[in-house]
Amino acid sequence: MTREMIRLDQVVKEFRRGGATVRAVDGVSLSVAQGEFVAVMGKSGSGKSTLLHLMSGLQQPSSGKVHLLGRDLSRLSDDELTLLRREQVGFVFQFFNLLPTLTALENVALPLLLARVKRSAAEARAREALATVGLSDREGHKPEELSGGQMQRVALARALVTDPPLLFADEPTGNLDSHSGEEVLLLLKQMQAERGQTIVMVTHDPKAAAYGDRLIRMQDGRVIDDQVTGEGA
Ligand SMILES: Nc1ncnc2c1ncn2[C@@H]1O[C@H](COP(=O)(O)OP(=O)(O)O)[C@@H](O)[C@H]1O
Ligand SMILES: [Mg+2]
Repeated sequence: MTREMIRLDQVVKEFRRGGATVRAVDGVSLSVAQGEFVAVMGKSGSGKSTLLHLMSGLQQPSSGKVHLLGRDLSRLSDDELTLLRREQVGFVFQFFNLLPTLTALENVALPLLLARVKRSAAEARAREALATVGLSDREGHKPEELSGGQMQRVALARALVTDPPLLFADEPTGNLDSHSGEEVLLLLKQMQAERGQTIVMVTHDPKAAAYGDRLIRMQDGRVIDDQVTGEGA
């Protein structure tokens, strides 16, 4: 039996804005199995990013339950949640979120250093991760010395350096030209195939979504469609 990596039960997330309450996620229940590559599509404001934040434990639901790797996130202390995220989850953002003063190698090594891995070991693993994304020759470059596509590949290497079973990506190609975007999508596909990583990716782009093998459509905080889309691109 395949392992259930993520489960949401009647998850609601509300935000207060002024006097009004916005229901960003409105009663979502779903399950993601190990090794799936799920694409999430929907208009701006439909709740995609919030859904990803809830799934990855970055935000807590207003009601409902989130289970990650069988653990009920609402029962974890802040420290346990931090540890679970650090060890089990990689996150890639649209705007890369690299630290501008650090080199590519230092950015990629950072999650390991935070986990108290020794610098020499952390740098060795960071080198491997940079090689995986094809950037061995850019180890000493700062983000501003890299193209958008290269920055996103560094961000992907940083997300992968701890070898997490779960990878979340929020519009990872949203800021890239189509060629660089394709490189990033092929790398995600490769991670799924070679490491059995479970991937949930938010995207606006139907071409990007086609790399997944399941497509979830959101509207007004709800899942309006959820189907297997085959082998992917
Ligand atoms: N931190 C927040 N505070 C207030 N409202 C928020 C916050 N985050 C998201 N929202 C609102 O929740 C809704 C869904 O947002 P979001 O999940 O970012 O959608 P998407 O990623 O699909 O564009 C939007 O109406 C947005 O304005
Ligand atoms: Mg968003």
